[in-house]
Amino acid sequence: MTKKREIDDVTGVETTGHEWDGIKELNKPLPRWWLLTFYASIIWSVGYWIVYPAWPLANDYTRGIWGYSQRATVAAEVKAGIDAQAAMRQKLDQTPLADVRKDPELLRFASAAGSASFQTNCAPCHGRGAQGFTGYPNLNDDDWIWGGTVEEIHKTLLHGIRTGDDQARAIQMPKFGVDKLLDDAKINDVAEYTMSLAGKASDATAAGRGAAVYKEQCALCHGDDGKGKIDQGAPNLTDAIWLYGGTKEQVVESIRTGRGGMMPAWGPRLDSTTLKSLAVYVHSLGGGK
Ligand code: HEC
Ligand code: HEC
Repeated sequence: MTKKREIDDVTGVETTGHEWDGIKELNKPLPRWWLLTFYASIIWSVGYWIVYPAWPLANDYTRGIWGYSQRATVAAEVKAGIDAQAAMRQKLDQTPLADVRKDPELLRFASAAGSASFQTNCAPCHGRGAQGFTGYPNLNDDDWIWGGTVEEIHKTLLHGIRTGDDQARAIQMPKFGVDKLLDDAKINDVAEYTMSLAGKASDATAAGRGAAVYKEQCALCHGDDGKGKIDQGAPNLTDAIWLYGGTKEQVVESIRTGRGGMMPAWGPRLDSTTLKSLAVYVHSLGGGK
């Protein structure tokens, strides 16, 4: 039943005849321009569905008659980028490792490529800034276990450390405690001596006894002076840089177990240009020799 239309006293506008508890609804239709825009946008969206990818289907989506795809655009951009780099990559392939740093442009390219690959492949173990963690060496300093020339770094990368690869860095410190090569008392003495090598306070009497054990058991790899030997992968014991920690307990643990950190071989996983740029990048971090 339609009620009679009436004019609202206050505004002078016609009401719709709807009333709730004395509140009456004014008859205010939507402006024409608004309605037209609204209908136009509906028509526009139908056109959009037809030409562009729009509706999800069970296993696919409507692709639109223009065949537009962001994935294809990205793929084309990536290919353009790779093409642009191809010349530099080729140059890097042909330049001997040691000569890369003589060419500033090539060095910049290799370091940037190496840095990107480092974040993906190496940062989980060595840290985003290559600062290292206990058991994972800092690659920024000039303290190298296996050698800090760009060629040595490259070799470490290619074959890894204690991986079983026949060219890997393989030397392993004896497990003096685990394999009962030394008893606890001798391990304690030689640990005290190791502490004294690093200039840390130690029990002088025990260290004196440890000196003899060191000469017999350790000097072969760590050197008579404790400064380490790169060809043995035996770290310098006289500096403040410790791979496994420099407290007495940590040193005893190193001697007891021989540690034996492992790093994967990257030769089988990465292409030769990437390996080269990684070596250049690590070498350029500051500690390269
Ligand atoms: C799974 C962990 C791991 C990953 C990933 C890893 N490393 Fe290592 N890396 C190690 C460990 C552990 C050592 C030390 C091994 C030892 O005790 O001598 C090491 C040692 C090194 C050394 C020798 C340092 C020295 O003082 O001689 C270099 C160089 C190196 N890593 C570079 C890299 C680069 C570059 C990558 C990425 C391509 C990488 N590492 C990825 C664990 C890792
Ligand atoms: C066969 C060679 C070899 C002999 C012998 C040897 N070491 Fe080592 N030592 C190594 C290697 C290699 C490492 C590095 C282990 C690793 O990176 O996982 C090492 C690591 C250590 C570390 C840990 C250093 C750090 O930075 O945390 C200590 C401490 C140490 N050795 C003390 C000794 C003492 C003391 C002896 C004698 C009782 C000895 N080593 C005998 C090869 C040797």
